[in-house]
Amino acid sequence: MAIQFISATKIFKLDTNKTSYILQVNGYGYLLHHYYGAYIPDSEMDYLGYTVGHSSFSPGVPCWKNGEPYFSKDVSRMEYSCNGCGDFRGSALSIIRSTGTADTDIRYVSHKIYAGKPQIVGLPATYAAADEATTLEILCIDEASGAEVTLYYTVFEALGAMTRHVSVKNTSDKMMNIQRIFSTCVDFHDARDMDLIHLYGSWAMERKFERIPLMHGTQVISSKRGASSAMHNPFIAVCSHDATEEYGDAYGFNLVYSGNFVASAEMDTDGGARVLMGINPEGFNWKLEAGESFTTPEAVMVYSNEGIGGMSRIYHRLYRNNLCRGEWKNTRRPILINNWEATYFNFDEEKLYDIAKTASELGIEMFVMDDGWFGDRNTDKSGLGDWFVNESKLKGGLGKLVDRVNDLGMKFGIWFEPEMVSKDSNLFRAHPEWALQTPNRPMSIARAQYVLDMSRADVRDYLFDCISQVLDNANIAYIKWDFNRNLTEVGSALLDADRQGEVFHRYVLGLYELLERILNKYPHLIIEGCSSGGGRFDPAWLYYAPQSWTSDDTDAIERLDIQYGTSMCYPVSSMGSHVSACPNHQTNRTTPLTTRGHVAMSGTFGYELDLTKLTDEEKEIVKGQCDEYRKYYDLINKGDLYRLISPWKDRTRCAWSFVSEDKNEVLLTYVVIRGGIYDRHYVRLNGLDENRYYRNVQTGQVLSGKALMNAGICIQERLRDYESRMYHFISVN
Ligand code: GLA
Repeated sequence: MAIQFISATKIFKLDTNKTSYILQVNGYGYLLHHYYGAYIPDSEMDYLGYTVGHSSFSPGVPCWKNGEPYFSKDVSRMEYSCNGCGDFRGSALSIIRSTGTADTDIRYVSHKIYAGKPQIVGLPATYAAADEATTLEILCIDEASGAEVTLYYTVFEALGAMTRHVSVKNTSDKMMNIQRIFSTCVDFHDARDMDLIHLYGSWAMERKFERIPLMHGTQVISSKRGASSAMHNPFIAVCSHDATEEYGDAYGFNLVYSGNFVASAEMDTDGGARVLMGINPEGFNWKLEAGESFTTPEAVMVYSNEGIGGMSRIYHRLYRNNLCRGEWKNTRRPILINNWEATYFNFDEEKLYDIAKTASELGIEMFVMDDGWFGDRNTDKSGLGDWFVNESKLKGGLGKLVDRVNDLGMKFGIWFEPEMVSKDSNLFRAHPEWALQTPNRPMSIARAQYVLDMSRADVRDYLFDCISQVLDNANIAYIKWDFNRNLTEVGSALLDADRQGEVFHRYVLGLYELLERILNKYPHLIIEGCSSGGGRFDPAWLYYAPQSWTSDDTDAIERLDIQYGTSMCYPVSSMGSHVSACPNHQTNRTTPLTTRGHVAMSGTFGYELDLTKLTDEEKEIVKGQCDEYRKYYDLINKGDLYRLISPWKDRTRCAWSFVSEDKNEVLLTYVVIRGGIYDRHYVRLNGLDENRYYRNVQTGQVLSGKALMNAGICIQERLRDYESRMYHFISVN
């Protein structure tokens, strides 16, 4: 039984095959958190619940019950902390009731346990069949305000993951305001030997890995850009100081949301720590009329005692199987050529066709036409919003070009940036009120563009019609959905003053509604997410888009850091990764074409350069890479990722591998960052079957799983800066 309620003690025990999560309703009706970690057999855990010997200065429950011990939230581990009634740590829930006071205090009313997982209406979330997951709903009430709060927990038994979200219903006859409502709250009993991992960055250097000790006080990772952002990702992990890729406790938290978020870890004086994650309260204020409800996005929590690598592999499986949807979840996605770095805005239909033709000869399967095909768009200064084909650039129209590319045996993809409008565009001239803005204040401008108010149904209808018009008139298989600036002056002309605090979240809900509508109408479409590279790379996108452009930095060496960090929770199958020209346009670095291929193959593979300019020898290499990618597709995209040598550790090399689920096959990639004088390179593999022997297909050498994992392989070559090797191992017994 994955979720049990032990009525004698009012304990809830939520188990997966590797983890347990335990909470309890105490005598006053409060929910106490007792445990989250490796699986423990069924047992009474209430001894963890009461803190005896606390100071009398800690506020306690106002009305004692006979026989119940003194209870103070100040010194207890709370399951879902509320503001203003004696828990002084960061709170998960704060509601301003009709009295104007922000005091919230929820107590248990009832619960339900059932097979499967409910949908979250209007929000992307993981999904599960009835035999894959079990759900617990705990209904609580704040009697003073009439706020009914439901806590949702789903455990994915076989995967070892769990999800949480929360909804609030106003059951009073008066209005209330939600100031903050987080998706999850976990109180760790003892976090004194724990580290915090998070992913920071900026444009062209997204999701850099940072690991720091938890400190007393609060460490906060957040975004208030209106997007999950390149600067911080809605992912954190807390892990034991001694946790490595292979060993130790690692707890991951990831928010399925593309807007403003907060993730925080607060260590209190007695060494416990509270982790909170949810919508960023800054810029958020949700008015809840009598009878209305509000539901948070979902947080995905993963625990592994097989280290950080173990945690990542659980996320990868969950996201591949229970978050990605539709046809392209399991179907091999086409190898693509994108014209952005090949031409930027400077193209016509013949130039694009020439690139596509060369690509088709090399085994590339889809041509993607990037920015500049519409409106009056010859630079990034104009045209966004005018989603009508520029026929002076694409003579004969889009349909003709698409047909010609289809005749080469290739699919056709196209770039959109639907949420934006250029200041210099017909759309903005006709509908200036469709852009986000606030009264009597100039609108900040970035890349010469404004952000459309996605909370408006008329804006979404316009975009749906424009996109449909393009897709209905040409055989388009793929959309690259870009988003190239963040939100400022966030006001909506259609909402009353007391609802302006809802615009950030309504924007995200509007975006999801539009994506859902498009996918319903075009179920065969592949959407690739993008945001100035990887500026909105979050799990929510995976629900709509099986792949996202990882970064505008296509330099293979920079990509080692970026892809390594991204893999903390996102599967390789979601990372758009292209071979581009050298010297690289972002870094000016020159790397071997083979290395660029090896690095890009650890993602959804493609090219982004003018293929017509390649030498014959380079074309042969590209052909070989496409064949290799097709051959290894399942291993790369469905296998387990083992990070073997971190590019952060010594900055001289990097290695990772994919191991098939049956452990029959392994693909190892090794990249030298600084070659030095070394003529021997050792790499220890991981995740193999130690009782089997494996043949290195490239060298013919046969070694035992034990040897490969304990002693490793030895590459006896003086590899130069940026050189790489890829080895395929197959089990021989
Ligand atoms: C963003 C994307 C790029 C490209 C340009 C086009 O920067 O990340 O890949 O599509 O926009 O303007």
